[in-house]
Amino acid sequence: MKGLHGKKALVTGSSTGIGEAIAIRLAQEGVDVAINYRRSEDAARQTQQKAHAAHPDVQTLLVQADVSNEEAVSAMFDAVFEAFGGLDILVNNAGFQIAGASHEIAVDQFARVIATNLTGAFMCAQRALQHFMAENKAGNIINVSSVHQIIPKPRFVGYSASKGGLQNLTRSLALEYAPHGIRVNGIGPGATVTPINKAWADDPEKRANVESHIPMGRVGYPEEMAAAVAFLCSDEAAYITGQTLYIDGGLTLYPDFRTSWSSE
Ligand code: NAI
Repeated sequence: MKGLHGKKALVTGSSTGIGEAIAIRLAQEGVDVAINYRRSEDAARQTQQKAHAAHPDVQTLLVQADVSNEEAVSAMFDAVFEAFGGLDILVNNAGFQIAGASHEIAVDQFARVIATNLTGAFMCAQRALQHFMAENKAGNIINVSSVHQIIPKPRFVGYSASKGGLQNLTRSLALEYAPHGIRVNGIGPGATVTPINKAWADDPEKRANVESHIPMGRVGYPEEMAAAVAFLCSDEAAYITGQTLYIDGGLTLYPDFRTSWSSE
């Protein structure tokens, strides 16, 4: 895609799922990719191998860091700058969710989800922006949000609040840094087959139930999310900033309104 070849990217939480697909897709486009992981170096190595298989000439780097920890984020960016000599693209993908009735969950469970999904994204964005500003560089930030940035998610209140927050993080940063040519966008995946969805993805009955709620009648795949990320940080999207592109098979289209139950 236009303008991607030779760029340098950091993708958080990219040893699995959507993040892995993004790292591989960017590598395929000729982008050097830093693969952040929290726990499993083995899984990150597998992503690295797939990235090299996609494009043998790109540089890759494995960087361990918990993005909810400010010192770890700082050390991760130092390692990326040292290895790559700079950065053009940050993809804030790391995220997780905790289920539980909102009146029963521990405040700490809420706080931990916010710390990774929202504060982690902010801390990474801040380091990237400092670099873009210092180098006078038209960098790109992509936040991997969710359809749940606009659709409420009962029993996942921390997740829902974190993704709602990501929407305004995207929009606020986009507005603040637009004069510098820095673009900030998001993607909003719908139900996507990844480890976060083990509970239904491998169970045909539960999966059929999930798919029955999606207008296009099927779940999404990590590669479909990665294609949108590649587009948004390419020069094809040079005039797009502050937007979240939903990749959800129509899930955000109020599927209940498929039939005109509200009027004759
Ligand atoms: P996943 O569980 O495979 O990926 C999440 C990754 O983030 C994992 O590799 C995990 O180790 C990493 N991670 C979690 N906390 C971290 C931390 N503190 N520091 C560093 N890394 C951390 O699941 P998936 O689906 O690939 O999720 C990726 C993103 O996509 C998440 O932000 C998720 O909220 C979002 N998303 C996923 C959807 C889906 O249906 N799979 C739908 C909408 C959004």
